Amino acid sequence: MLKGKRILITAGPTKEFIDPVRFISNASSGKMGYAIAEELYSKGAEVILITGPTNIRCNLPDTKVVHVTTALEMLKACRHYFGSVDIAIFTAAVADYRPLNRELSKIKKNDDTMVVELTKNPDIAFEFGKVKDPHQLSIGFALETDNIIEYGKGKMNKKKFDFIVLNTTNENGEGFGFDTNKISILFRDHAVKSFPLKSKKEVAKDIISELESQIKNIEVH
Ligand code: PMT
Repeated sequence: MLKGKRILITAGPTKEFIDPVRFISNASSGKMGYAIAEELYSKGAEVILITGPTNIRCNLPDTKVVHVTTALEMLKACRHYFGSVDIAIFTAAVADYRPLNRELSKIKKNDDTMVVELTKNPDIAFEFGKVKDPHQLSIGFALETDNIIEYGKGKMNKKKFDFIVLNTTNENGEGFGFDTNKISILFRDHAVKSFPLKSKKEVAKDIISELESQIKNIEVH
């Protein structure tokens, strides 16, 4: 069912530089996004992986891997493929803000306090939602510490996701960095399906199986 489908996946963190040696980022390892890319590849999909800086090497043959550092670079790389993909999966933990000015020289620590003015980054998934065709599907992710369903619904509606994968950092083994994750999937009809803690490889299988069900529903109706 996914054979030959062209699928864009974002993965990993972005890094937003303050000066040549310092940056704002987050703890995303890229493991979740890369596991999804592998699962899709094993199903015969044409995978386009747009990845922030990670320690993972993607060895999937015939897979387009685009390495980016910042949110602006990730948006530019994604925009290139937006019009030609069947499905987009937004796993990346994109930095919401970047320093307004990136200093060209290393900032000296002369003062006891320092203020870095930040400006909002573009929202890549939201941008896709604005141009998404009816035949294109998109899956979002949300990592929350509280009000997970409520915030998840808000993000799904705003970014026009067909479903959203929710995860938290509340328990050991969940969310950033681990080889495991515990997810719930929130659907457009507000149904929620929860899964136990599993390896990210198994979690990727669960997500892709839900994606296949969605495609089947669309094809039947
Ligand atoms: O990489 P790992 O260590 O394996 O960890 C996996 C993960 C925790 C990073 C992943 O499972 C996850 O939850 N990713 C989304 C993190 C998040 O909190 O996203 P968000 O709530 O900021 O954004 C919601 C959605 O919009 C996400 O699909 C995100 O990719 C997308 N987004 C957000 C901001 C932005 N500027 N552009 C985006 O595309």
